[in-house]
Amino acid sequence: MFVQTDGRDHLDYRRLLNHEFSALRTTASAAHITAHAEAHVQSMVSAGATADLVAQYALPLVSQTLCEVLGLPWTPGSARRMLQVFQGRDLGNADLNSTTTPVDHLVRDLARDALAAPHRYPGLVGRIAAEGIDGRALTEDELAGLAKQLLMPGHVSPTHMLGLSVLVLLEEQPARYAKLAADPGSATDVVEELLHHITVKQHGLIRRAVRDTAVGGALIRAGQWVPCHLDGADTGPAGFAPGRTPVTHLAFGDGPHQCLGQHLSRVVLVRGLSVLARRLPALRLAVAPHQLHRRVAHTVAGVTSLPVTW
Ligand code: HEM
Repeated sequence: MFVQTDGRDHLDYRRLLNHEFSALRTTASAAHITAHAEAHVQSMVSAGATADLVAQYALPLVSQTLCEVLGLPWTPGSARRMLQVFQGRDLGNADLNSTTTPVDHLVRDLARDALAAPHRYPGLVGRIAAEGIDGRALTEDELAGLAKQLLMPGHVSPTHMLGLSVLVLLEEQPARYAKLAADPGSATDVVEELLHHITVKQHGLIRRAVRDTAVGGALIRAGQWVPCHLDGADTGPAGFAPGRTPVTHLAFGDGPHQCLGQHLSRVVLVRGLSVLARRLPALRLAVAPHQLHRRVAHTVAGVTSLPVTW
């Protein structure tokens, strides 16, 4: 798992992956992401109210944009399989360490095919399948493992961040939701504030102390492992205040392991929320908030479904 490596090994992996996830590349795809958002709102509307905003909008939008970056096909068949595999998943150790989940079957099929025909994958996966690492061809296991480490966080975190963002806007900040439609330029600040407010990755983040360190009166010895709760660390001034400066939050972590997909996620959230607000200004919950089923015991927070009408 490259996410569990450190130092030089980790840096080499990040260099390999950074290109397709850079801010520049992501900004260049913003128009595509808007078009995908428009199409997914349209298919949700066509299917009729009540809709599940997580399954019918957030997940397909996140999945399609990620597949585009990775160069994976988005045909009706491949999209259906991708959505079935990631519906309701978490980023817990059980899923990450297993080799027999539907995600594992999917990435193994993918790796086999991409190594045989890299040109069919015009994105990160095809590039790595063709080039290998350091002039060495990747094995099927290596490529499958890498794809899993991208597909899992790349689906789970942004899907639930988008779902919870809509919930917060509808229930706590309806004026901000209305403003997104009239003033899409406000979306960047709103999204940054939502990231600060929600901190969707609740736990599962661990660090090892490199030297004896006292934190809040407790001594952590060099070499000890420390579970980090980003939510607890993400304090700062209370309230919901888009545009506050400086914007400091830990929603994407910090340091060398900071989230690879943060630029992509910001654009998906900004475009995804703006399109939704413009197309469905009367969007509202179709159930009372206390009836929502929250993912409390999961690594990534969220609601299992978000029934909405418009
Ligand atoms: C709103 C969406 C997202 C949130 C809130 C989020 C959050 C995080 C957090 C908190 C970390 C841990 C950082 C650390 O250890 O300091 C992380 C790491 C990571 N994220 Fe995300 N993430 C999101 C979207 C994505 C997407 C779209 C991808 C696409 C592939 C992705 C891929 C990764 C990877 C590969 C790592 C491990 C990086 C490393 O260890 O070098 N994430 N993410």
